[in-house]
Amino acid sequence: ASRKLLLLPGDGIGPETMAEVEKLVTVLNETVSAGFTTEKALVGGSAYDAEGAPISDATMDLAMACDAVLFGAVGGPKWDGVDYDKRPEAGLLRLRKDMELFANLRPAICYPALADASSLKREIIEGLDILILRELTGGVYFGEPKEIIDLGNGQKRAIDTQVYETYEIERITRAAFELARTRRGKVTSMEKRNVMKSGLYWNEVVTRVHREEFADLTLEHELADAGGMKLVKNPKQFDVILTDNLFGDMLSDIAAMLTGSLGMLPSASLGAPDQTTGMRRALYEPVHGSAPDIAGKGLANPLAMIASFAMGLRYSFEMITEADALEAAIAETLDAGIRTGDIMAPGASQVNTSGMGDAVAERLRAK
Ligand code: NAI
Ligand code: MG
Repeated sequence: ASRKLLLLPGDGIGPETMAEVEKLVTVLNETVSAGFTTEKALVGGSAYDAEGAPISDATMDLAMACDAVLFGAVGGPKWDGVDYDKRPEAGLLRLRKDMELFANLRPAICYPALADASSLKREIIEGLDILILRELTGGVYFGEPKEIIDLGNGQKRAIDTQVYETYEIERITRAAFELARTRRGKVTSMEKRNVMKSGLYWNEVVTRVHREEFADLTLEHELADAGGMKLVKNPKQFDVILTDNLFGDMLSDIAAMLTGSLGMLPSASLGAPDQTTGMRRALYEPVHGSAPDIAGKGLANPLAMIASFAMGLRYSFEMITEADALEAAIAETLDAGIRTGDIMAPGASQVNTSGMGDAVAERLRAK
């Protein structure tokens, strides 16, 4: 098999964490003949400096032609004064838009070795493994009209509009059930049907798609506010949480904090299947940013980037055994008390970015 990866390390700690993923790509090519080929390109501030734009057309062409994009992070104080449409984040936004990445996957997993680092009690989060699926390209962040109108009497009116069309709800719902089928078979849809027309319609479409196409799986509904409470009180009752762009933004950040450090959190963004290959367009990235405060010092925790690559193995390449093995290698590394500074604990041994990558690579190779 030939599997094409585009690596976009970006700015700050992005290149440092991506270097650790490259070690794992090599391990998989050597141990299971994974057939990965990689290309690397600039994105964000480093692309702006070298190429005049936060992502070049040539890099966009590479992104559209590869099987999966691995993205580090972009941004930093150096580019604070850059024009709005050339700022580093614009590179990521263009990737999301042109690749039509409508489904954002944010897992919340509790590694046993880190259960005590959470602000919640061990019994609430130990063994936690849930997936928040956020609709990423519609809803109130993009709906029109979107404006601030001067009413002329000293008053203004600020307007955002929540808009969802049938096809947008259908495709994210199908993605949710397809994911649930590979997990524990349950989807919980969250909206506010009691006060929002878009919530009422979301509920109707999700219910219909479930009945017509996925009746063998379980569907539950929660109002998003009550769902947020349950997420904190007893998160293990959920499997896949399906929700819109706005609620998903909040619920995924809340879920992230159930399990602790920013340096541990992966994400995936999936698009529609490619017309010719049938493969979904996909981008895998850590939740954290470019961490300019620690960049270049070997202090970055590469596990969020590494876990994002594991998601790529699972969702883009159907390498389930290898994804499981890589996730197990991460858990074993933590169990062995190997820690970067951000997740350091009494009695553990502190390593730098490269040391953490080596520890995971060694355990993956041994599987
Ligand atoms: P950040 O996530 O970069 O950093 C927040 C804090 O967490 C910092 O103290 C940082 O040192 C720490 N941290 C983050 N990742 C870590 C890791 N892997 N290992 C150890 N410690 C880690 O968020 P911040 O500081 O708000 O933003 C910095 C820059 O990143 C800004 O320019 C921002 O716009 C950009 N950013 C980019 C994102 C992306 O590329 N997707 C997402 C979020 C922010
Ligand atoms: Mg957010």
